[in-house]
Amino acid sequence: MARPIDPRLSIELAGIPLRSPVILAAGTAGYSDELADVMDLSQVGAVVCKSITREPRVGNETWRVWPAKAGMLNAIGLANPGIDKFMSDVAPRLKNTPTTVFGSIAGTSIDDYAHVARHMETIPELPAIEINVSCPNVHGGTEFGADAGALRELVSAVRAELTSSKLIVKLSPIAVGQPTLADIARAAIEAGADALTIANTVPAMQIDVRTRRPVLSNVTGGLSGPAVHPIAVKLVHDVYRKVAQEAGVPIIGLGGVSAWDDAAEFILAGATAVGVGTALFADPRAPLRINRDLSRWLNTHRVQVVKDLVGQVILPA
Ligand SMILES: Cc1cc2nc3c(=O)[nH]c(=O)nc-3n(C[C@H](O)[C@H](O)[C@H](O)COP(=O)(O)O)c2cc1C
Repeated sequence: MARPIDPRLSIELAGIPLRSPVILAAGTAGYSDELADVMDLSQVGAVVCKSITREPRVGNETWRVWPAKAGMLNAIGLANPGIDKFMSDVAPRLKNTPTTVFGSIAGTSIDDYAHVARHMETIPELPAIEINVSCPNVHGGTEFGADAGALRELVSAVRAELTSSKLIVKLSPIAVGQPTLADIARAAIEAGADALTIANTVPAMQIDVRTRRPVLSNVTGGLSGPAVHPIAVKLVHDVYRKVAQEAGVPIIGLGGVSAWDDAAEFILAGATAVGVGTALFADPRAPLRINRDLSRWLNTHRVQVVKDLVGQVILPA
């Protein structure tokens, strides 16, 4: 029998009720229920499925995952079975997944994203669809998430395909100069994003000094885990204060969460929900600990619901 979750942890994300603010991040928890053997999925707010593309992809050659000193590097290359197989094999299983599932889409053209969105929109068990915009746009070469104009076009096109599903735009942390991530977030919101995920992995590279070769076959990859956490906290803080709070658009804070205090930091910075990714590889039950310890945190701050702590960081006067 499913253990009850502290009701004070329940949240609403863009109108979608979730039992907990703790969400399993795209690409780290399978397509829906694959982690059910090692953890009670009814204890998490949602699972975001691994990103799906229009066509199947085998991804990059090994090595495509490598340990870093404070996290891990990956260049999986979006290996996935493609939307047709997702519709035939995964969609029927969603009814029996004991938590909410969000779809996730990746692509290299606006048409590709729109095609996958059109299919996912027909699945009633996907109340929200996240778009992974850390993918290069074949027409310009730059990532959608680094170019406010391209992102605006992409978000509008996907938005036009969705009637009942909410649209979550998962931003890339690479927009740290000009435009800033707040500018990029504003473009996504103006084009119809219902929620934002901040952020994807940080572009990175590691070299084996003995062989003088990059450790990943793809040469570069994305860094995740504890090393990226403070970067993501700042991005959530900036986007919340500059754009999202006023627009009433919720943020999913993501990057390096392995314990309750990492999750609490994101919430104080302005996140309504919190993703867990890399930590699941070391401890798939980490989300259950995080729920328990977030409840204790609510007690120490004497708040009725976790929502009351969103954005409540105390800044110097
Ligand atoms: C092995 C691996 C695969 C990933 N695959 C995806 C993916 O398919 N789509 C996506 O949007 N993000 C993907 N991510 C990024 C995570 O969802 C998350 O944004 C990132 O890892 C930072 O969170 P973390 O530090 O908690 O892992 C992947 C990350 C890892 C480590």
